[in-house]
Amino acid sequence: MNHIVTETRDRVLRIEIARTDKKNALTQDMYRAMSQALADADADARVRAILIHGTRDCFTAGNDLKDFLERPPHAGPTASFDFISGLPKVIKPLVAAVGGPAVGVGTTMLLHCDLVYAAPNARFQMPFVPLGLVPEAASSLLLPMIAGYQRAAELLMLGQPFSAEKALAAGFVTEIVPEDKLLDHARAAAAAVAALPPASVRLTKQLMKRQLGQAISSQMAEEGRIFAERLQSGEAKEAMTAFFEKRKPDFSRF
Ligand code: COA
Repeated sequence: MNHIVTETRDRVLRIEIARTDKKNALTQDMYRAMSQALADADADARVRAILIHGTRDCFTAGNDLKDFLERPPHAGPTASFDFISGLPKVIKPLVAAVGGPAVGVGTTMLLHCDLVYAAPNARFQMPFVPLGLVPEAASSLLLPMIAGYQRAAELLMLGQPFSAEKALAAGFVTEIVPEDKLLDHARAAAAAVAALPPASVRLTKQLMKRQLGQAISSQMAEEGRIFAERLQSGEAKEAMTAFFEKRKPDFSRF
């Protein structure tokens, strides 16, 4: 079953997350496929922009929680870490269209996108703390910078779902677009940037990102180290087991 669908049309590579029965939760194979698609897009002169989206009702429920639960200690580099650490290095413009849940990496990946369109039904969430984990994808660095410390602290420490309006106010959504127009709107934006002088687009993105590259990799490495430790914690195991048992987690014994 191919849960990542790619298509290149009008100089835009479209990456579609398509694992609808599990709310587009991302497996290691899916991360691998997305990383490959991004690398291929950067290497292909015919591709000038990249569009990433899910279905109208679901962007992605984030990392597959079964994969988190089953990951052995000291497993070493993962396809998810490769994907996350590759995102800030993507040379070509990244456009995202978000409808429905965008959980965990579903929200944090947006901090690395250039244009982010969200439908009013979008529900963002970074539930790292409620899951006994810590933020990833350099969100602990980028979100306070983009949104301001207290807005970021609310979203990252409480980890509750929030609306497209709130994401727009936080500063990582470009525009809210009605659900039935979302994909066409994002596609048109990707096509518009793809029609511009490619070197100028590439250099502008590079200039906007150049001061932060080192800080982002260093933050990701530290987040990744702590995240891997937290995955083995009793708190994380209780939170994730409770999700699959469809009950409230109980952290009273920790
Ligand atoms: N990993 C693995 N499976 C997941 C999943 C995930 N991240 N998110 C959803 N699923 C599965 C559910 O287990 C369920 O499977 P089942 O039909 O075999 O029971 C199916 O997808 C549908 O999920 P459900 O929770 O019933 O859908 P919903 O519409 O009520 O809620 C979400 C959607 C996204 C809000 C909810 O599924 C959710 O919170 N998921 C977990 C998100 C998360 O914590 N991600 C990790 C971030 S670090």
